[in-house]
Amino acid sequence: MHTVTFLPVGTRVEVSEDLCPYGQYGKAGSVLDIALAHGVGIMRVCGGTGVCGSCRVTVEAGMEDLSEADDDELDRLDQIDGSGPQHRLACQAVVMGDVTVTVPDLLKKPPPPGSSDG
Ligand code: FES
Repeated sequence: MHTVTFLPVGTRVEVSEDLCPYGQYGKAGSVLDIALAHGVGIMRVCGGTGVCGSCRVTVEAGMEDLSEADDDELDRLDQIDGSGPQHRLACQAVVMGDVTVTVPDLLKKPPPPGSSDG
């Protein structure tokens, strides 16, 4: 059992690995999977397949408690200006401990890969 906190709203959820996957988006037990199962909206243009980058979140705490990013995720993040080591794709980052992330504003159009609006 671990806790995931979603900022800026501050929604905090207790996650049981026994219940994952919750839904059908992203990797089982991913930040996106957990978020959508608890009413936290995160943009997911590609449906959680890791190709669009719209689900990028900022990891405020607990980066070590997320699965390691693979080369495909790192490549996708590299294509979005403003990405740094504090960013992950919510659909690819599987939660393994207590984590706090800031989710992008759903009303703000996601930056396309290669844009300067990161
Ligand atoms: S939903 Fe498209 S990369 Fe995560």
